[in-house]
Amino acid sequence: VLAVEMTALGLTGCKALPGGVSAEGDRRAAYRVNLHSRLASRVLVEMGRRRYRNDDDLYKLANAIEWERHFDARHSLRVDTSATRSPLRSLNFATLRIKDGICDRLRDRTGERPSIDTRAPDARVWLFLDPREAIVYLDFSGEPLFKRGWRSDADDRGDAPLKENLAAGLLALAGWTPDIPLVDPFCGSGTIVIEAASLAHDLAPGLSRPFGFEKLLDHDPELWRSLRLEAEQRARTGATGRFRISGSDIDAGMIDRARRNLARAGLPDHAVQWRTGDLSRLSPPFGEPGMILCNPPYGERIGALHDGNTVGRHLGGAVRNPDSHPAVMASIGRQLRQSWGGWRAWLLSSDPDLPLQLGMKERRRTPLFNGAIECRLYGFEIFARQPGAAA
Ligand SMILES: C[S@@+](CC[C@H](N)C(=O)[O-])C[C@H]1O[C@@H](n2cnc3c(N)ncnc32)[C@H](O)[C@@H]1O
Repeated sequence: VLAVEMTALGLTGCKALPGGVSAEGDRRAAYRVNLHSRLASRVLVEMGRRRYRNDDDLYKLANAIEWERHFDARHSLRVDTSATRSPLRSLNFATLRIKDGICDRLRDRTGERPSIDTRAPDARVWLFLDPREAIVYLDFSGEPLFKRGWRSDADDRGDAPLKENLAAGLLALAGWTPDIPLVDPFCGSGTIVIEAASLAHDLAPGLSRPFGFEKLLDHDPELWRSLRLEAEQRARTGATGRFRISGSDIDAGMIDRARRNLARAGLPDHAVQWRTGDLSRLSPPFGEPGMILCNPPYGERIGALHDGNTVGRHLGGAVRNPDSHPAVMASIGRQLRQSWGGWRAWLLSSDPDLPLQLGMKERRRTPLFNGAIECRLYGFEIFARQPGAAA
């Protein structure tokens, strides 16, 4: 889905690879992906690559790149390394050699070396190593793109909201389009419905946050201003249709938080219909069937790992007694079959027993990672009850 999105944003040769998409494009395309991509985590621009056998090869690779065009000693720097089956013994040392290659080059060209800042660097470089080849990238995004700029630490502390680009990915994988009624009955902080509303209102996800490329020496502020203006114009005229997007949660406090998040995201309160309620008693909010998309609370592990609510809260669930979890899911399954006939339901869960607990057979099952947790996105079709079927 990311390759499709990037092609639509004007990049060419988009190729899905494990963990990313490679593509070609100019500066405008790189800025556009940062501003408009709902699915990407970062935009990394390739600066150089070479075969390597030892750390000195990495130094040579970094030292040969014209970093002085992008940043200098006034910028602080951070280097990160990611490796698959690299023969090198120490990745920390590999990182250090890249950093030395960059800093020595800048000292030779400009007289000064940049300082290192791992917390809030002005320039960020990534080294990727496979068994034979090393690739060096300059990070154009800075903070990862799932940080849209609307979360408030005070509102989300201690909970486990979905990352915004995972929520957008679920919408894309489920095939949601703004004309389809959408309900997240376990909406928590509102990530899924806010992403959906932002898509429906044509609000560019990157409009309220800064980007790494804005600090670079070769940044083109004119180009960036024109792309932002165009995005602002689209956001003003975007909401032409009548959208049916609803978020509900058993916890009224979560609905208050989700509402505040929607406002901070720059969307009107009426963009989402909010309700408080237990899904095992909830009926559809719209007259016509559509799509349920959610990540239900997790029941497993909570009781086994710790006694306290901290773990339960950390996993984002309201399930305090793990023994009752299958029973809760069974009553939710009954309610879905009874009242939500004709709807499609997509549930993201790490629990392989979820379909069994709901008493429903999934039509599709897509493996996904929610952070480090391996999950499945289960797709169900809920059949409308035939009159007289109870008999
Ligand atoms: C895993 S969290 C969802 C997180 C959400 N996707 C987000 O990004 O913030 C599950 C949510 O389900 C809610 N919940 C638990 N049991 C419920 C029930 N029976 N009916 C409705 N909501 C419930 C919890 O309050 C919690 O906010």
